[in-house]
Amino acid sequence: MKVLVCGGAGYIGSNMTYILAENDYEPIVYDNLSKGHASAIKKFELVRGDLADTELLEKTLAEKKIEAVMHFAAFIEVGESMQNPLEFYRNNVSNTQNLLSAMEKCGVGKFVFSSTAAVYGMPDAVPIIEELPKQAINSYGETKWAVERMCHFQSLTGRLNYAALRYFNACGAGQNGTIGEDHSPESHLIPLIIAAAMGKREDVKIFGNDYPTPDGTCIRDYIHIEDLCSAHLLALQKLDSQSELLYNLGNGKGYSVSQVIETVKRVSGKDFKVTASPRRPGDPPVLTADATKAIKELNWQVKYPELEKIVETAWKWHSENPDGYVD
Ligand code: UFG
Repeated sequence: MKVLVCGGAGYIGSNMTYILAENDYEPIVYDNLSKGHASAIKKFELVRGDLADTELLEKTLAEKKIEAVMHFAAFIEVGESMQNPLEFYRNNVSNTQNLLSAMEKCGVGKFVFSSTAAVYGMPDAVPIIEELPKQAINSYGETKWAVERMCHFQSLTGRLNYAALRYFNACGAGQNGTIGEDHSPESHLIPLIIAAAMGKREDVKIFGNDYPTPDGTCIRDYIHIEDLCSAHLLALQKLDSQSELLYNLGNGKGYSVSQVIETVKRVSGKDFKVTASPRRPGDPPVLTADATKAIKELNWQVKYPELEKIVETAWKWHSENPDGYVD
């Protein structure tokens, strides 16, 4: 089956591209390379294009005989989403509407969508189950929720089968630590800590140490990139018979910022400066997933339940690629 991987040159999309190929799918990457890295997907076919380019999208879907689309091409920086909400709506919502319209026109009816735990905002209870209220507190989460609703209504027409997968904290490197995380600028905790361990940053800043958690720092649910991608594959297979799939994807286990820092110190064998900083606006104290639904319905099995192993893969990638991807 030919699968168009929108945003396939990005961190999650590139890992997904490899996993699709390993499982006898034929991935074709569609990416404008505004954030992604062509060198991450050298082995694969790349259509360099924008999701706003209706003509190129329709041509690609039709000529390549695409049967399913996986969509990772979105802006993800929460802070930026509050500075430029209209840009987020344009890229994350309008461009996805354009993609879905092109799919409808070309008769492509399977769609796997990259959603986020940010749709829950400040949840009333953790671990989070899928039914909790969707009350995003930033425009990033709200744009992802808007797309979920768009897919829901389109699925009711019978012309779309879709899966919305709500990620918690994606991390680690896939393909034996060879396909890693390289954002610019970087804002994610694990790569920032690793940069400090490599001497590329002066320190690691802990955003708030007075949260109501055992060590006062925020707790998150870190899920290895390959585990995340394996759930996408299972969801895609289930779309043969189901029109709407909604799953949280997380390990179900939380680690605090301080625990993550200690883990990187252990794995890397390096020490570095850690500085207490003010809270980052909009950070809930604890975000962990109840992924029971995905585990049961998709038979999803996590290969990396332990943070230590996840960090080892990230450390391997960063130490072997100290300058990130060189395109
Ligand atoms: N943190 C620090 N110092 C840093 C960077 C982060 O203390 O330098 C803390 C944050 O405050 C947070 C935790 O580390 O408590 C994790 O932060 P990340 O920025 O790595 O990840 P988030 O949990 O904020 O966000 C991630 C994704 C989002 C997604 C969200 C859903 O990056 O795209 O999970 O929960 F929306």
